[in-house]
Order: sequence, then structure tokens, then C-alpha cells
Amino acid sequence: MVSVKFITAITLALAATVSAAPASHGHKTPSHHQKLVHGKYFDRFMIVVLENQDYEAVVADPYFGSLAKKHHGNLLTNYLATTHPSEPNYIAMIGGSTFGNDDDSDVSYNEKSIVDILEPRGISWKEYAEDYIPGPNGDCAMDSAQSKNVYRRKHNPFISFSTVTSNPARCKNIVPGSQLAVDLKAKNLPQFMFYTPNMNNDGHDTTLAYASNWTHSFIEPLLANKDFTKDTAVLLTWDESKNYSNTDQVWSVLVGGAVKAKRNNVDNTKYNHYSILATIEKNWKLHNLGQNDANATAFKW
Ligand SMILES: *[C@@H]1O[C@H](CO)[C@@H](O)[C@H](O)[C@H]1NC(C)=O
Ligand SMILES: *[C@@H]1O[C@H](CO)[C@@H](O)[C@H](O)[C@H]1NC(C)=O
Ligand SMILES: *[C@@H]1O[C@H](CO)[C@@H](O)[C@H](O)[C@H]1NC(C)=O
Repeated sequence: MVSVKFITAITLALAATVSAAPASHGHKTPSHHQKLVHGKYFDRFMIVVLENQDYEAVVADPYFGSLAKKHHGNLLTNYLATTHPSEPNYIAMIGGSTFGNDDDSDVSYNEKSIVDILEPRGISWKEYAEDYIPGPNGDCAMDSAQSKNVYRRKHNPFISFSTVTSNPARCKNIVPGSQLAVDLKAKNLPQFMFYTPNMNNDGHDTTLAYASNWTHSFIEPLLANKDFTKDTAVLLTWDESKNYSNTDQVWSVLVGGAVKAKRNNVDNTKYNHYSILATIEKNWKLHNLGQNDANATAFKW
């Protein structure tokens, strides 16, 4: 496990990007608002993935511990990650399989991913990766780490699929985290959003308290914004537990305008990372990938 710490002079990313949003000069950029494809439960879905904490530690954090209730969402009390270390968990979330991956190395799978079931139905998607620097012309940047050193490709699963990286149009959907504020302002959010915080904000190189603080500053303004939250479901989750000897249970919540609260804001159903794909497929009546998504339990609405 990487344990190098980069804890100097860090500012909270979204606060910075919101205030840095370009001023309007009275005429709008021509936008290519894609037609919204309505879903059974939600019209938009965002996943935010944090790093390496045990369920018990996260529920004990004051902010995480109260988040589901505060936002009339649900704490998923029986959600297991897939494996260790990080990378195969992220790959599982969008590919339905780890494809035998058991480390954090740079990989490239010629396999289908969520992109291949969303695009035929005209459902827009983006990967927002904090501190990611796209290549020239929006090409996929394949580096493991980039100049600011707080981005890692192992937490950006789209880069691990050659079915994405060999396609210039798909590469343009992998964007820096700062693009989220721009897309929100333009009322042009994609329908499937995968948000990858950097190595500090996700808690990987910092602490649970730091990740809690960052999550608060990131998600509270979004959930308070009608343009974001209306008909949207957000899954906040962790890639894997910290303890390699436990069941790999991770803390996850579903919040957002499209989420209906269950009794006591708790859902005890057994879920895992493949439940993400199963939920997306059920919501938009998509084909499955023929992987573990085919028999995973979709989140109950
Ligand atoms: C939480 O963020 C605030 C700024 O929003 C900062 O002043 C504070 O030190 C942070 N706390 C932790 C534990 O990182
Ligand atoms: C890790 O999990 C195992 C199995 O539940 C447990 O026995 C052990 O005490 C845990 N270690 C820590 C540091 O929490
Ligand atoms: C789900 O389906 C996959 C692919 O067919 C299979 O490998 C896996 O064992 C199945 N899992 C369960 C729990 O049935």
C-alpha cells in the first residue's frame, strides 16, 4: 500500500472551483444539451468513491454518521466491497468484474463497461477526476500520476478500459473535477457521473476526518442546489475496507432528490459494488454486461 503523505497546503477543491467559475459576459456558450432519458427511479446518478475505511469507523464519524438522516436518504448497512486493493474495486463498479486484477498496476482491458450500455440509449456520462490533466485535444491521459501528484489513474476506472481509451469521443468524457461546477452552472450535467476525489480528499493520503470534512464541503452545496439534486441519486461509498481481514464491509449512503427514505433511513439489504451496475440497468432498462452485474441486487427504491 502506498503511504506517502502529501498533507501540505491543501485547499478544498470544489469551493475553489466554484469561485473560479468564469464570469458570464451576457451571452451563453452554445451548449449541446443532450435530451434527458428519463429513468424509472432517477434521471441522474452520481457515484463518489472515498478510500480505505472500515464501516464501523465511518458510521462513528459525526458527519458521515448523520448524513443519511440529514438528507432524507438511506444508509446501506450491509454493503460489501469486492476485493483488495483499490483498483479492482473501481473496475468492478463499471465493468461488472475485476477481470482477475488483484493489484493497483496500470491495466487495459478490452472489455465492455457501463459506457457500452449507456451510449446506445443516448444516456450521457462523464468521469470527473480531481487533478486529472487530459491530453491534447482531450485525449485520454494514461499516466499513473500527474503533475500535481494527487491524481491516480488507479482510481479512475475508465482509463483501464481500452474500449474507452481507444475512442477519442469517449476520452473527452474523462474530465478534471473542476468541470463539474462548469457543467452544473450550464445546466448541462451528464446523467451518469463518476466522481473521483484526489488522494487527499478521498482520505487515501490523509485521514477519515479529512475525508469527512471534504465530503461535507463537496456534497452539501450540491444537495442544496435544485439543478443538481432534482431527480438525482448520489451514492457515496468507499472502495474497500481498511482492514484486510474483515468482511470488506464499507459505508455507503444514497441521498439526493430521487431517493426515498426508508424507515429510520436505513436499508439492510445485502449489496455490493455490482449493485451499482444492476441499479443503472434497472433504472433505464438496459442490457446487462453479462458479468456479476447480471445477478447483483439493485438498490431498492
Ligand atoms: C475542514 O475544513 C475547514 C475549511 O473548510 C478547515 O478550516 C478545517 O481545518 C478542516 N478540518 C480538517 C479536519 O481537515
Ligand atoms: C480486522 O478484522 C478482524 C476480523 O474481523 C478482527 O479480528 C481484527 O481485530 C480487525 N483489526 C482491526 C485493526 O480492526
Ligand atoms: C453471478 O454471475 C457471474 C457471471 O455469470 C458468476 O461468475 C458469479 O458466480 C455469479 N454470482 C452469484 C452470486 O451467483
